[in-house]
Amino acid sequence: MMVEGRKSIHGEWSSRWAFILAATGSAVGLGNIWKFPYITGENGGGAFVLVYLLCIAVIGIPVMMSEIMLGRRGRQSPINTMRTLAREEGRSGYWQLLGFVGVLTGFLILSFYSVIAGWALSYVVQAVSGLFEGVTAERSGEIFGELVSNPGVQLFWHTMFMGMTMFVVARGVREGLEKAVRLLMPALFILLLILVGYAMNSGGFAQGFHFLFDPDFSKITTEGVLTALGHAFFTLSLGMGAIMIYGSYLPENVSITRATFTVAIADTVVALLAGMAIFPIVFANSLEPGAGPGLIFQTLPVAFGAMPGGLIFGTLFFILLVFAAWSSAISIIEPVVAWLVESRGISRRRASMIAGTVTWALGIATILSFNLWSELKWMDKTIFDLLDYLTANIMLPLGGLLIALFAGWAMRSSNSRGELGLQQVSYRRWQLLIRYVTPIAIAIVFLNAIELI
Ligand code: PFF
Repeated sequence: MMVEGRKSIHGEWSSRWAFILAATGSAVGLGNIWKFPYITGENGGGAFVLVYLLCIAVIGIPVMMSEIMLGRRGRQSPINTMRTLAREEGRSGYWQLLGFVGVLTGFLILSFYSVIAGWALSYVVQAVSGLFEGVTAERSGEIFGELVSNPGVQLFWHTMFMGMTMFVVARGVREGLEKAVRLLMPALFILLLILVGYAMNSGGFAQGFHFLFDPDFSKITTEGVLTALGHAFFTLSLGMGAIMIYGSYLPENVSITRATFTVAIADTVVALLAGMAIFPIVFANSLEPGAGPGLIFQTLPVAFGAMPGGLIFGTLFFILLVFAAWSSAISIIEPVVAWLVESRGISRRRASMIAGTVTWALGIATILSFNLWSELKWMDKTIFDLLDYLTANIMLPLGGLLIALFAGWAMRSSNSRGELGLQQVSYRRWQLLIRYVTPIAIAIVFLNAIELI
């Protein structure tokens, strides 16, 4: 059964389309354009892509449906939504821990996310000032090296990006988020298509295509499978309440299933397009696909530097990346801000200031992990590596597992079915996935991740 008349104090999306744009804005970000290519490059290509696609289909989609459903039913920040729903279902109040883990995960993710988005911001300026014109691969590597070895410059751009993010979040759902993404998302698709068009003529398209879509299973490792699973959560913004809070602003008459498929497909298409834009350029210029987090920053300037109109394409590309990161960053911090407003009774502006400042301060550790603290390692991982590993491979799957257990087992079937509005057959299919397939698969990822530490 659906609950009638419960409203979010933070507002509601103006339409189904507004929600889809916002959720796609959250899902599509650095994960698709920066992280997907470099982890695909590090894990050997096709086989990794296949496992990732499988994870999106059998774990990502049912978990996303569940998160939106819980959010829309609870109509509050994830912490308070979980408390309300657990009480309604006669379950333990401990379920709200899910919301708290989500808040902590959000702080940690945004702290490094903002630093990488800061790199993209600095590259907009470098691209537009013509620095990449005729640049060699060696010089491009040096430019990237100069950036990451300089804490002051990174701090400046990280501060700018956090400022942009908090500016939108402080203005609230209708005023801030919705207007921002309505413009950003369509622009992003178009720019990406232009880039793929260029890549098709770069001379490396066949090789790039083969690398991405021809699975060679001898190249995939256990760790690669874990990374693919973790990335399915990261890229769809699942497991920490971001999609849940967007669901809490969703009008009642919207089909959750249809919205989920639209967002998941759009997100996957963008990641694959990014791969199709980047790998041909990598191969055409004999660059290294496994270059790591610097992949797009080290390789793309070489291509932009060589192509006609490269100044414009390069500038547009990094602007696109900043926009994509921006609309994701907003959603990473929104659960925290909504929770502060609800439970502390403070204004949205103040809540944004507080959450933004804490995240900004945490981000300094990531900046230093690329230079002054680069030798500070645990299990061969720098602070940045650890934050990425802990959040994507452990905390998000843990959150996803709890969401699956709550939606599949703790909630009465009549309630979840009413909220999802599914026919008997489709509902049974969702239930099978969320009750058995998803938790078992996540448990396997999770246990492996612990073992690997
Ligand atoms: N999905 C975003 C990306 O792919 O860049 C990152 C992200 C957003 C992760 C929101 C988690 C989240 F809650």
